[in-house]
Amino acid sequence: MSSYFVEENSVETVNARMGRNIDPRLVQMMSALVRHLHAFAKETQMTQAEWETGIDFLTRTGKICTSERQEFILLSDALGFSMLIDAINNRRPVGATESTVLGPFYVEGAPVRAMGDTISLDCKGESCLFEGRVLDLDGRPIEGARLDVWSDNADGFYDVQQPDTQPKWNNRGIFVTGSDGRYSFVGIKPVSYPLPDDGPVGQMLARLGRHPYRPAHMHYLVTAEGFQRLVTHTFVGDDFYIDSDAVFGVKETLVATFERLANAPTLWRSPFNFVLAPMVHYRLLDPGRGRDQPFVDIFRDKDGFR
Ligand code: BEZ
Ligand code: FE
Repeated sequence: MSSYFVEENSVETVNARMGRNIDPRLVQMMSALVRHLHAFAKETQMTQAEWETGIDFLTRTGKICTSERQEFILLSDALGFSMLIDAINNRRPVGATESTVLGPFYVEGAPVRAMGDTISLDCKGESCLFEGRVLDLDGRPIEGARLDVWSDNADGFYDVQQPDTQPKWNNRGIFVTGSDGRYSFVGIKPVSYPLPDDGPVGQMLARLGRHPYRPAHMHYLVTAEGFQRLVTHTFVGDDFYIDSDAVFGVKETLVATFERLANAPTLWRSPFNFVLAPMVHYRLLDPGRGRDQPFVDIFRDKDGFR
């Protein structure tokens, strides 16, 4: 085969150019990327002008990124790619709470609050008691589980989007369960809000006849010793956008009850139990380790092997 580039052999020609002793995973990833990228151009018979439009789109996507704004992740979210990566990496046993996207508004270091405390500091919105238990797959309570929670405010903005108008850590907090595995906190019934849509991703959604909204949700990052990290939300089921989440994050099992209360300290109550899957322990034979310690212990968490 000639090593010059011709349309028919485009994939083989490019992939044959890789050197020797390259990381096998990199070889697998890059050759698949080239194969799919070339197939995309061939299937669509991409024109030069369309290629230029794509390059311009990616350039604008890169240029709008800052330390606060990650337009490439937003693009991945809007294309359903983030949810696909999440699904591939979070196949959990039946009964475990399902995961969904983390989103760009998670901030590490929220204050640890006393059980039952309020996270809503701006006194806006309809108050809601969130409560339930953190359990293992056998229904036993998990002690010491850490629930890092965050939501938008009643105007549909996270505190980090409005640092000059919202109190710091508004609608955020960390709660640690006791021996009964129970958690409770007072927030607001969340409201739906649009993704940041003033950039290339917003323009793409508009061109595709898609709205940029996410249905109302409360975010949770639940961690506990010996269990897989759970990144998830609970959703408000009667939200207008529940069936058309701009990032495809809704799962049926994550739609929570929101019951309206009368004569109670809060207007709403939303009960939800979280069920954590155990950390999976692999013991692999590692020939490089010698006779004394031939095995390597690996714990599978949400982030892959570690
Ligand atoms: C969020 O729920 O905070 C979110 C997720 C993905 C993209 C934008 C926002
Ligand atoms: Fe959100």
